[in-house]
Amino acid sequence: VLAQAPELIADRLGAARCAIVTDENVAKSHLGPLERALAVLGRHLGTEVLAPGEQTKSFPVLARLCERLLVMGLERGGVVIALGGGVIGDLTGLAASLVRRGVRFVQVPTTLLAQVDSSVGGKTGINTPQGKNLIGTFHQPSLVLADIGALATLPPRQFPNGYVEAAKYGLLGDAAFFGWLERNWPAVKARKVEALAHVVATSVQGKADIVARDETETGDRMLLNLGHTFGHALEAWAGYSDRLLHGEAVAIGICLAFELSRELGLVDKASVARVTRHLADAGLPTRIAEVPGTPGPDASTLTAIMGQDKKVRDGKLTFILVRRIGAAFVSRDVSAVAVQDFLARRIEAERDV
Ligand SMILES: NC(=O)c1ccc[n+]([C@@H]2O[C@H](COP(=O)([O-])OP(=O)(O)OC[C@H]3O[C@@H](n4cnc5c(N)ncnc54)[C@H](O)[C@@H]3O)[C@@H](O)[C@H]2O)c1
Ligand SMILES: [Zn+2]
Repeated sequence: VLAQAPELIADRLGAARCAIVTDENVAKSHLGPLERALAVLGRHLGTEVLAPGEQTKSFPVLARLCERLLVMGLERGGVVIALGGGVIGDLTGLAASLVRRGVRFVQVPTTLLAQVDSSVGGKTGINTPQGKNLIGTFHQPSLVLADIGALATLPPRQFPNGYVEAAKYGLLGDAAFFGWLERNWPAVKARKVEALAHVVATSVQGKADIVARDETETGDRMLLNLGHTFGHALEAWAGYSDRLLHGEAVAIGICLAFELSRELGLVDKASVARVTRHLADAGLPTRIAEVPGTPGPDASTLTAIMGQDKKVRDGKLTFILVRRIGAAFVSRDVSAVAVQDFLARRIEAERDV
């Protein structure tokens, strides 16, 4: 797909001139073919190669990027290509929504996380000292080109990190897909092309269906946050560092959401065990105790972090709970006290294992 990108873009968006935004890691393996293919057609405006990592999603980098795009000569009819993971996609999407009051952009996601999740749905954003993704816009990509071949160079830990978001679509609304993932995990793990294509296509369709119903997250789109309220608290606790990647935190968060649902009498024990087993098989952490660091996270700190999270309305925590695998729902009335008590008991129980 990468080498054909200029034709695919021209077919759908016309023969516009394109600027590419990427990061140093991705540039090493995947920039050359795309850049050359555009240049041959005389449609390459320029390339901006940014430093890899979450720190790149910041106001200073955004400001520089917007100015660079103008210097390259990006016009109202031009196109910006985001070639990279979620960091590049989120930042580039935001820049594209701002420059000349909004130009079209194309997502070319190169991590599994970006292919199954962040490249679709139109959320853009950067981080500030007040929190992650609190500054951003809704700006839909005009096209998403996911080349599963690009995943060949992905560092090993990044694969399960993205995989958990794919499993999430099954868990929140598609039990058949989760069953397929359980049965076909060996082929997915071996990165067999057909299996990976099915994972990416089904995930994207699952996300697109939800986003089409609720683009700006006033209702159903919240379901995509399954495992994320707990997950964000763990991520924040670990300082958004390599100690705990987003997907790893979400894996623990999904297990906690299932366990909390079981305590509330909503879901059976066997389903909780099934989910935990599959995520563990996929090489993901499933328990709070697996977060590196001593002392580990404690219930009151985690609950305090959740209280500051953007998923709070009128003092009540918003959780995505489950009735069974494939049936999640939004619950807005889980009290912080009950959650803190739940977490304290989980942490205690894990200690006894
Ligand atoms: N907009 C959304 O809806 C949405 C959804 C989920 C996550 N996100 C955001 O996505 C970001 C995380 O995305 P991510 O996990 O893709 O992280 P990332 O973009 O930081 O990529 C992870 C690492 O892999 C490297 N990399 C990327 N593709 C590679 C390849 N093909 N070969 C070798 N190395 C490669 C990157 O340089 C980086 O070091 C977070 O900022 C998160 O907030 C956004
Ligand atoms: Zn996520």
